[in-house]
Amino acid sequence: MAGNSTVLDIKDISVCFDGFYALTEVNAAVKRHSIHFFIGPNGAGKTTLLDIICGKTKPTAGSVIFHPESRADVRLTGMPEYKIVREGVGRKFQVPSVFGRPTADELAQIDRVLDKVGLLDKAQTRAGSLAHGQKQWLEIGMQLVQQPEIIMLDEPAAGMGKPETFKTGEILREIQKGCTIIVIEHDMDFVRQAADIVTVLHEGKVLTEDTVDEVLADATVQAVYLGRGKAAS
Ligand SMILES: Nc1ncnc2c1ncn2[C@@H]1O[C@H](COP(=O)(O)OP(=O)(O)OP(=O)(O)O)[C@@H](O)[C@H]1O
Ligand SMILES: [Mg+2]
Repeated sequence: MAGNSTVLDIKDISVCFDGFYALTEVNAAVKRHSIHFFIGPNGAGKTTLLDIICGKTKPTAGSVIFHPESRADVRLTGMPEYKIVREGVGRKFQVPSVFGRPTADELAQIDRVLDKVGLLDKAQTRAGSLAHGQKQWLEIGMQLVQQPEIIMLDEPAAGMGKPETFKTGEILREIQKGCTIIVIEHDMDFVRQAADIVTVLHEGKVLTEDTVDEVLADATVQAVYLGRGKAAS
């Protein structure tokens, strides 16, 4: 479950694209070993925030500070993407180490990860012939191979039916024992199932941050989600 120490500090992040502020002074503190959801209507700035954490997009102002478990703090803003991955803040797996000839240690690690995401019996299956949900789980597993301290998932349950979405939640609960998980999602059943903490973004600003029950009971949150069929379920 969520601990008390902060693993990622998002401080006063603003980003301006050609005069349009996609994010304005966003603050959030992600706790170690938590499953931290960012939700909000389309265009709220959720993906932009993940792009800033992983170094794909440079913020106009603010900083993202990573507090590794047993090393000095690392300022992620300003670092190139590959270095951020190397520091232990994972996003999609970089191809070479999977498709090179793996060592015995790497093979054992891959088996361990496939087991975690429920795909060990598919170890000999071509990725292309996996079902949609299984491909998503494989993507999660590929992030885990590098043993990151934080992984980030942008709508991991998109396109999944209810049973697969539920299984994704169970997989996240298992993975959380070994790392912190930042998730963007629209499916509120999934959020209810898997979230320790929820930050609601709206028009580039933090509307509120709380436990899932508090957030879903919040009148302003309900108002910004009005008309969103998926969110209302
Ligand atoms: N590179 C860019 N240049 C200009 N505008 C951008 C850029 N990236 C994102 N935006 C704009 O920033 C806003 C936030 O986009 P973002 O993709 O972060 O939203 P989101 O919350 O992930 O939405 P969704 O739920 O639809 O995925 C949108 O208005 C989008 O058009
Ligand atoms: Mg998005």
